[in-house]
Amino acid sequence: MEPVAYDKHIKQVLIAQEEIAEAIRQAGRQISTWYDGRPILLVSILKGAFVFLADLCRAVTVPCEIGFMCAKSYYQGTESSGMVSITMDLEQDISQYHVVIVEDIIDTGRTLRDVVALLRERNPLSLRVVTLLDKPCRRKVEFEADMALFTISDHFVIGYGLDCAEQYRNLPYIAEYDTAVDAEN
Ligand code: IMP
Ligand code: MG
Repeated sequence: MEPVAYDKHIKQVLIAQEEIAEAIRQAGRQISTWYDGRPILLVSILKGAFVFLADLCRAVTVPCEIGFMCAKSYYQGTESSGMVSITMDLEQDISQYHVVIVEDIIDTGRTLRDVVALLRERNPLSLRVVTLLDKPCRRKVEFEADMALFTISDHFVIGYGLDCAEQYRNLPYIAEYDTAVDAEN
């Protein structure tokens, strides 16, 4: 197979590595203050939030366990399908936990609306949502996180766990995806 230019869709870097790192240090302090020594369960929504979770859990100083769920809301490309399905569920009984959902980005709000409704039915001790990115201008359903590290405008973004058709999750920063490149080809 021919090697491909891996950076051809990177239009601009929106949030640099060091900015992300500093925001996560602050978020870790805030979460540790919220729970004040009480143990928590950080629930990462795969796949997009795996990088954020890995850094955020190391910035938290309360006892913490990790859980994973897989919620799929996107087909290929940059448009939401409007349908959310849980393709992998948590193994923990969350009625024993203070739960913090760790998400990469809130776009239409549908994924978290559905995930939060599902987890609330299981009666956790408490439930909060922390998202790395928030695109409030794109909301289709009402939803607000307890903490959003960055608010961005209507860009499709890649990197730091976020993908476009499964590519670019390994970029260490957050970049704007260049859709014009595909239109040219
Ligand atoms: P929502 O259900 O529309 O809020 O979408 C949430 C999910 O869509 C996120 O967890 C991401 O996986 C994906 N998503 C939304 N916006 C973007 C983006 O700009 N880049 C990459 N993935 C995105
Ligand atoms: Mg996601």
